[in-house]
Amino acid sequence: MESVSTSVVTQENFEVTIERILPGGLGLAHADGRTVMVALAAPGDRVRVSIDRVKGNVAFALIQEIITPSPQRVEPPCQYFGRCGGCDFQQLTYQAQLDAKVEIIKDCLRRIGRIENVPDFQITPAPNPWHYRTRAQWQYDSIRRRLGYFEGGSRRVCDVAECAVLAPELQQTLSDLRERMQDGSLPEDARDFRAVAGDDGVSLVPDPGRNPTVREGAERRGTSPTVREGSGLGMQSEQVRDITRTINGERYSFNAESFFQANDDLLLQLIDAAIGESHGETAVELYCGVGLFTVPLARRFTRVVAIEGDATATRFARENLANAGLTNAQVANQDVTGWLEENLECAGNDGALDHANRTRKGSAGRTIIRSGVIAAVQSPPDFLLLDPPRTGAESRVIVGVLNLKPKRINYVSCDPATLARDLRKLIAGGYTLESIAAFDMFPQTHHVEAVVHLLL
Ligand SMILES: C[S@@+](CC[C@H](N)C(=O)[O-])C[C@H]1O[C@@H](n2cnc3c(N)ncnc32)[C@H](O)[C@@H]1O
Repeated sequence: MESVSTSVVTQENFEVTIERILPGGLGLAHADGRTVMVALAAPGDRVRVSIDRVKGNVAFALIQEIITPSPQRVEPPCQYFGRCGGCDFQQLTYQAQLDAKVEIIKDCLRRIGRIENVPDFQITPAPNPWHYRTRAQWQYDSIRRRLGYFEGGSRRVCDVAECAVLAPELQQTLSDLRERMQDGSLPEDARDFRAVAGDDGVSLVPDPGRNPTVREGAERRGTSPTVREGSGLGMQSEQVRDITRTINGERYSFNAESFFQANDDLLLQLIDAAIGESHGETAVELYCGVGLFTVPLARRFTRVVAIEGDATATRFARENLANAGLTNAQVANQDVTGWLEENLECAGNDGALDHANRTRKGSAGRTIIRSGVIAAVQSPPDFLLLDPPRTGAESRVIVGVLNLKPKRINYVSCDPATLARDLRKLIAGGYTLESIAAFDMFPQTHHVEAVVHLLL
């Protein structure tokens, strides 16, 4: 640890040594009794930093000069590094990125999850640490004519022509959009573009090539957008293009309006960790998306009940099950909390019903539909899989899961902090942490995917 006798953190620039990488991706250092969090650092770096902002006893700092680089530091290859908010780990060797992610998960489980003996676990590296992203969101500033990602900690758009983590199909789509931006044929009111690549092309929303109102706008400006063969921008329908991806012999349809994992290279392994050898009578899946896990679950369990809040994703999940010839899975298009609470009411368990009523009183504004639950699960399921968004599961979801009493829970998470918060409650509710698996789905960033296996 850095020992500094004078009040260095009030100085404009001061030196620190980076101790380790914290959840969130910042480097931890100490100076003058104060915690300093340094962006884009490597463990072991000796750096001169300046304070960007202060929150309580924590100073957030930016590197002004690297005095002695860490052995884990490399030259970031991307020309936008430091400005673009997309990648915050490019300064680390790939092994250092993996090590940092394992430590981030452990740190969250110990500190937030209060788990004393975190079991050892492996992180599966990405086969392609570059050009892997098959899903992206690009910000568009029509006034300044910028297209790319937000700059770090700001809503300013960093104009990006070439992105080092995009899969080639998405890089092509970004380049096509840039051409349109330059010839004035992008919709002025578009704020962002979402794109996802499949085996059969790219789905883009909004898609200027498929939206007639954009063509009218371009004609008004005297330009006419080029129609390209094989490019997502060249299609002539108003609809968002549906695409497919085959994983482990299962074919999934989806589009840019529904969630799909951002790195296809590790999906086989992720599905395997999420489902493993589990099989039995009933499985419940919360936050099922387009059915990435639902389809394989339906091959292993007699009955599957899956819950998804987004209507488009639900439509795809149902379609993907039907196309696989699976009729033993139901997908409820419902908020997870609502489904769990209605299901509990249906179960007719007195204690459980009391709990549901208490919960309802304590959460004004929530409407609970009483007209019978869609896809009810009456007795404890053999297996429950949940894969919530980055914010994790709501407290009421955890209460609902505990009331459901599944024999086994597998929790898939893209945020170790919210995962740890939820695990603490599940473990307090009687579950034992059996094992953990991590996957480097997002190389060059601090983000990491983890799967935790729990047993009642
Ligand atoms: C991280 S994604 C996982 C999807 C799927 N497991 C996969 O791997 O493709 C989370 C999904 O939860 C859905 N979702 C988010 N909040 C929800 C809620 N409160 N109730 C139901 N679904 C929700 C989103 O629409 C999204 O499809």
